[in-house]
Amino acid sequence: MKKQDIIKAILGNRYGKSPVLPSATAFASTNIALCKYWGKRDAELNLPITPSLSISLEQKGTTTEIQVNGLNRITVNGQPIENRSSFGKRLFEYVSLFDPNEPLSFHIQSNIPIGAGLASSASGFASLALALNQLYNWRLTLKELSILARIGSGSACRSLWQGFVEWEAGSNPDGMDSFAKPLPQIWPDLCIGVLMHSHAEKKLSSREAMNRSVKTSPFYSSWPSKVAHDLIQIKQAIQSKDLPLLGQIAESNALAMHALVQSSWPPFSYSLPQTLEAMQKIWSLRQEGLEVYFTQDAGPNLKLIFMEQTLTPLLQVFPHMEVIRPFVGK
Ligand code: PMV
Repeated sequence: MKKQDIIKAILGNRYGKSPVLPSATAFASTNIALCKYWGKRDAELNLPITPSLSISLEQKGTTTEIQVNGLNRITVNGQPIENRSSFGKRLFEYVSLFDPNEPLSFHIQSNIPIGAGLASSASGFASLALALNQLYNWRLTLKELSILARIGSGSACRSLWQGFVEWEAGSNPDGMDSFAKPLPQIWPDLCIGVLMHSHAEKKLSSREAMNRSVKTSPFYSSWPSKVAHDLIQIKQAIQSKDLPLLGQIAESNALAMHALVQSSWPPFSYSLPQTLEAMQKIWSLRQEGLEVYFTQDAGPNLKLIFMEQTLTPLLQVFPHMEVIRPFVGK
């Protein structure tokens, strides 16, 4: 099944129509997975082997403005980006699936580093799908937009909502049952801390790393059952606001995902010496009685999971940590 077939099926007779506005702008938060998406059953449509569950990072994310000006230009945080760069190609390939003929320009503002394992593609493709929906006045539902965002980048399907979001793997070959849904629970004093160890773009894309894990890791066959177990536990932890349970399962899930990467061939590790040093610190802090846990995506940066009351002692150990309160104001 091709991406364009799915897009045509979702847009129906709106497919191929011209933009109705001169420009459109939309914001989407980035999200970090507490139970990871790692492995595709269909690489063309970004259909996952397992479900996954994330938390959105509120004000951290991407604003995409699309202009109908016939220029085909891209800027990211005010800097022009080459259309032939890998970023430019990925963007234009995606939008040409919807409308191959209209020259559009894109002005992208992001407060997260692109490609450094902070899920910039998640907020990028989610904000792009939202902005396209406005520009063409498609009036799609969030479920349909989640499918369109997923076609751009798998984890983007979870970035259309705030709070906890679950992506159901689905089983249909066309992926019409593979989209995200928000969970109703809020957890006001839950905090996420971002420890940046590098802003550099990752050396191995998550796409390639996942593919290697599925094909070559001797442990991949145990991943789906680990995810099934972790999802049940994480939902229970969210329901009962049980931080030790949430933290333990999220950390174990991330370490298992990285064990898949490190046991693949050719081998690879997303961690830097600073990543491992921070992990060791977190483990000793826990032994000293501080309730703090971490997760790690396809990059060297860690995201810490803790409660508001742990913030002060934690900032003494990690003074540069950026703090996000995903449920503030909810
Ligand atoms: O959506 P992608 O292709 O950028 O892959 C995301 C992979 C992880 O961030 C490591 C896991 C996840 O569920 O977001």
